[in-house]
Amino acid sequence: MPSDEAPSGEARYYITTPIYYVNDRPHIGHAYSTLACDVLARFMRLDGRRVFFLTGTDEHGQKVEKSAQSAGVDPQTFTDQVSENFRELASLMGFSNDDFIRTTERRHRESAQALWHALADAGEIYLGSYSGWYAVRDEAFYGEDELTRTEGGRMVAPSGAEAEWVEEPSYFFRLSAWQDRLLAFYEANPDFIGPDSRRNEVVSFVKGGLRDLSVSRTTFKWGIPVPDDPDHIMYVWLDALTNYITAVGYPQTDSEAFRTFWPADLHMVGKDILRFHAVYWPAFLMAAGIEPPRRVFAHGWLLNRGEKMSKSLGNVLRPSDLIEKYGLDPVRYYLLREVPFGADGYISHESMVHRINGDLSNDFGNLAQRFLSMIQKNCGAKVPQPGELSAEDMALLDAADALLPKLRQELGQQAFHRGLEAIWSVIGDANRYVDEQAPWALRKTDPDRMATVLYVLAETLRRLALLVQPVMPDAMSRMLDQLSVPADQRGFGDLDKTLTPGTELPKPEGVFPRYVEPEAAQ
Ligand code: MSP
Repeated sequence: MPSDEAPSGEARYYITTPIYYVNDRPHIGHAYSTLACDVLARFMRLDGRRVFFLTGTDEHGQKVEKSAQSAGVDPQTFTDQVSENFRELASLMGFSNDDFIRTTERRHRESAQALWHALADAGEIYLGSYSGWYAVRDEAFYGEDELTRTEGGRMVAPSGAEAEWVEEPSYFFRLSAWQDRLLAFYEANPDFIGPDSRRNEVVSFVKGGLRDLSVSRTTFKWGIPVPDDPDHIMYVWLDALTNYITAVGYPQTDSEAFRTFWPADLHMVGKDILRFHAVYWPAFLMAAGIEPPRRVFAHGWLLNRGEKMSKSLGNVLRPSDLIEKYGLDPVRYYLLREVPFGADGYISHESMVHRINGDLSNDFGNLAQRFLSMIQKNCGAKVPQPGELSAEDMALLDAADALLPKLRQELGQQAFHRGLEAIWSVIGDANRYVDEQAPWALRKTDPDRMATVLYVLAETLRRLALLVQPVMPDAMSRMLDQLSVPADQRGFGDLDKTLTPGTELPKPEGVFPRYVEPEAAQ
């Protein structure tokens, strides 16, 4: 379970994003899952953990095969092209993933086939025939009771995807036999599914009874062949979920990577794919004698104009457009601050500008600018020498010190918005402190006290900037440069060091410019 204790020794942290279907160009919803993981990965690294952060692309299945057909290219060429877009997204968004997996890679085919063998050897897979409903868009099987019949007679899944009737020979996984063991597993691991509301949904779904799961298809070819029966290809979800163990060396379970990083600490997923991760995946793993992951967290939808983003609705927001307009770090901050993580939420230009000009420019940026320029003018551009600290000075420094345990706790529960709120509350304290201490008035009356106040502000800013790094790495690196904090002293282990009086400081430069509407700027 996530803890608010400092990690001891070489603690490790393995975090994964969903792997993305390559039938689409990346949009801001895709960037959202990975951004959340990136912030956690950066946070854990700064907190002294050995991190493995995985993302990648999900390249098999009927949906991708169909997209390739409509693009008029063979599936491999198609997936090579589209997968590249997701790699570009990673560099555009400043993601710090340690690996990028593609399910068409050899290491993955070997791993998925090995998992199949393990399941078959354990007697968990049998040959039968499937007749029922399948929605290609969701790559999911549905019971008739889960579907709605439209006026035109089409069968539609709760996600809106159309289901078609399928009849074919198929291997089945004995999921029905896992109901009690899954329920016992959820009971013994209360933090396995977050947020709690989603956990309850999954538990009631499993309590409602589980049917055996069809895990192979025969009516198309684009997938990993079932070992010893190549007329069948593996069900794309069994194939895709396996990526999480492939990347740490499966089937070499005695490898350094597997022993170090498995079980994963966190699979981050959108709420639409929770069932696959919280029901099927732990059942597959337990059936194969592999430990399940520690936690799966389902985030909500980012909605634009009240609707889920999709190509057909024409309301897709592209990360590149947002970044060009507002800058990368403000976009990263906004996405995690605006919408309580776990819930659905609206994003809009108005609220974006409000956050940039309010939280970033006014509250954080101006705080820094105000006292850094005073230090330039009045303290010889050097970290001032503090005198004795007053109760107010101590209160501010203590508030900044209390943030790390608080952030460990909030981020341990993926509550990014609450973590950021806590940081901004200390930024608010610091702004009130400047107003109350009025260092500009002390310049003539009590220059020693002025030096102390400016020192306390610089020291507070150092602590804040260190802690904000996971969310806005580039802006915080510039802020720490302005405080002349050496590059090798920017980990959370350095929080309890202090600025050295007399250290020269460069000329301050604004880190968070205000957003001005283009027409108003002319
Ligand atoms: N390939 C599967 C995942 C396999 S994981 C072993 C898949 N891919 S996906 O490309 O369709 O979606 C990937 C992720 O993007 C999901 O977590 C989904 O919830 C997320 N999002 C897609 N659109 C979104 C929004 N508009 N808002 C937030 N996240 C959304 O499912």
